[in-house]
Amino acid sequence: MSYQEEFTRSIEQPEAFWAAQARRIAWYREPRRILDRDEQGLYRWFGGGQLNTAYLALDYHVQQGRGSQPALIYDSPVTGTQATFTYSELLNQVARLAGGLRQLGVERGDRVVIYMPMIPETVVAMLACARIGAVHSVVFGGFAPHELAVRIDDAQPKVLLTASAGKEVDHVIDYLRIVDAALAEARHPPSACVVFQRSFHRAALRVGRDWDWDELAAGASPVDCVAVEATDPLYILYTSGTTGRPKGVVRDNGGHAVALEYSMSAIYDVRPGEVYWAASDVGWVVGHSYIVYAPLIHGCTTVLYEGKPVRTPDAGAFWRVVDQHDVRVMFTAPTAIRAIKREDPHGQLARRHDTSRLRYLFLAGERCDVPTLDWARRLLDKPVIDHWWQTESGWPMLANMPGLELLPIKPGSAGKPVSGYDIQVLDWTGRPLPPNQEGIVAVRLPLPPGCLPTLWNNTERFFKAYLTDHPGYYVSGDGGYRDEDGYFFITGRVDDVINVAGHRLSTGTMEEVIAAHPAVAECAVIGVADELKGQVPVGFVTLKVDSQLTDEQLQREVVALVRERVGAVASLKRVVVTPRLPKTRSGKILRRIMRSLAEGEAYQTPSTIDEPAVLEELADSMRRQQLPGALPQTGEAT
Ligand code: COA
Ligand code: AMP
Repeated sequence: MSYQEEFTRSIEQPEAFWAAQARRIAWYREPRRILDRDEQGLYRWFGGGQLNTAYLALDYHVQQGRGSQPALIYDSPVTGTQATFTYSELLNQVARLAGGLRQLGVERGDRVVIYMPMIPETVVAMLACARIGAVHSVVFGGFAPHELAVRIDDAQPKVLLTASAGKEVDHVIDYLRIVDAALAEARHPPSACVVFQRSFHRAALRVGRDWDWDELAAGASPVDCVAVEATDPLYILYTSGTTGRPKGVVRDNGGHAVALEYSMSAIYDVRPGEVYWAASDVGWVVGHSYIVYAPLIHGCTTVLYEGKPVRTPDAGAFWRVVDQHDVRVMFTAPTAIRAIKREDPHGQLARRHDTSRLRYLFLAGERCDVPTLDWARRLLDKPVIDHWWQTESGWPMLANMPGLELLPIKPGSAGKPVSGYDIQVLDWTGRPLPPNQEGIVAVRLPLPPGCLPTLWNNTERFFKAYLTDHPGYYVSGDGGYRDEDGYFFITGRVDDVINVAGHRLSTGTMEEVIAAHPAVAECAVIGVADELKGQVPVGFVTLKVDSQLTDEQLQREVVALVRERVGAVASLKRVVVTPRLPKTRSGKILRRIMRSLAEGEAYQTPSTIDEPAVLEELADSMRRQQLPGALPQTGEAT
């Protein structure tokens, strides 16, 4: 079927379309209703259906004769380890850990926080939760104790699973120290921690709180899958919103499994038995969907890579993995390709490996610049497909869908709407805009299966954050436009969320941390374009009159504070001390202008500015910090 026919059917007859897709997975009990709304007005897919996501990912395949097929290849250049787990082996480990969790009192509906590095045990942990109907919440390893504590307090887990250590390129991350600090801060700490001991860094366990992972699993009896409702939560994944408090995106079981299974054939065009590799981290949604759940539900072999695109040991690492493990479809973030391109611009390292069996490279997580896309396309001589999605959607919203039909690729565009997503560009009043006019990218309700049904324990925030501004639509938070051929171009966030090396971060969170510094009177954090990471945060601060600190001291302290409170992943390296921040007459900080100044872009002084002279002071301060600090063009903007 052509893309257009399939897409049209999915929009015109959503229930018939998704009922057909739902037949592709093995239910314990078929859904009674395809789509309905609950008493709060939330859409629910596949009500009355019962299933188990871990069953679909493991047991089902073993029953179908895939037991000896590799399910997971662990490739860890940072520790010099490789290991392969068949579907049967992974199932055994999952069933045992699930038994261990049960012994600790975890039952269906209980939450389990997973704070772990990129090791097979993390995948085992997620699937073990799914097996017993517990709700996991994976927290990315690059977050600091405070961020972990905030998530613990919101999810209120019964148990926390962690490892003794993580390994970055040249340093060891002491996970248990971070967990200790987070639990000391948390108001709702879990009653038990299960610690996987890594051989290069064993941790001392706390008696009464900590359990040794291997001992717990070895002493437990394997348990079977529990039937859960299609609408029961599978996981919570916290993502950055515009305030300092992260949003707990909820994923249900039924819609998620159906959507992911559909995506593997229709979008990624990969077949059961083939190797699929998402070079991301299980701490992000890409890792949840395309390292763990989708490849396994589809019967593929997934690759879990504990390394970087460069420096482990060089910029040929990705192509080595593709060649060695026979990867047919790959997915990563543009920033990783930019890092490789910078170190191997002529592809000399790439040519040492045979990438000819790879069919597609998919990119997402941030806007992909055209030179990066072109470079990858020339290097691999394969379609390189930019596609757009969010933690909230859980699977792509815009893409090229070669499993249906490979459409011509337009560099700079994230493609056309994926089946089920009626995507519109709206103006500020909520009216759909014609082609080539930039506005807010929104999806007409209902969202297809797999997308968030709500936010954890906060349906009010769910409505307010996504559905209230433009009734009838889900507002994505991204801006963009559509061309006359129906291709969409995402131009960036319209809120205070930034994207650093494919990691979604909130400037609000960083501002809260900086504002707590005793010498800081006022602050703002903005995302500034960066050649490698897409964007990096830059802090702007004004000092209290009695501050005795030099600018250099203040900068050092603020950088250290953000690292300590938010985590190294924030990558805040630059702080500009300035006499005043530019504001409107009503006191709103003019961030857009600050970004133009910092990126050296021409801009016009807004008519709403309180004191235009502030911009010149700010430009001076920026130049002292090696930022361009552009000056205004003549003329006044409104
Ligand atoms: N646990 C602990 N710390 C982590 C971490 C993790 N899982 N991931 C990153 N960090 C730390 C890094 O060690 C680094 O710390 P440092 O400042 O002490 O060096 C910091 O966070 C920033 O890391 P990163 O953003 O990875 O920057 P980098 O300079 O080390 O590497 C890239 C740059 C482009 C190679 C890297 O960002 C990358 O591979 N990006 C791809 C991102 C991706 O896959 N995103 C998922 C969306 S699909
Ligand atoms: P996350 O929720 O962490 O996956 O981040 C989602 C955000 O990343 C989106 O709202 C976009 O701002 C950005 N993003 C993801 N994919 C793309 C893409 N292909 N093009 C442009 N921006 C993207």
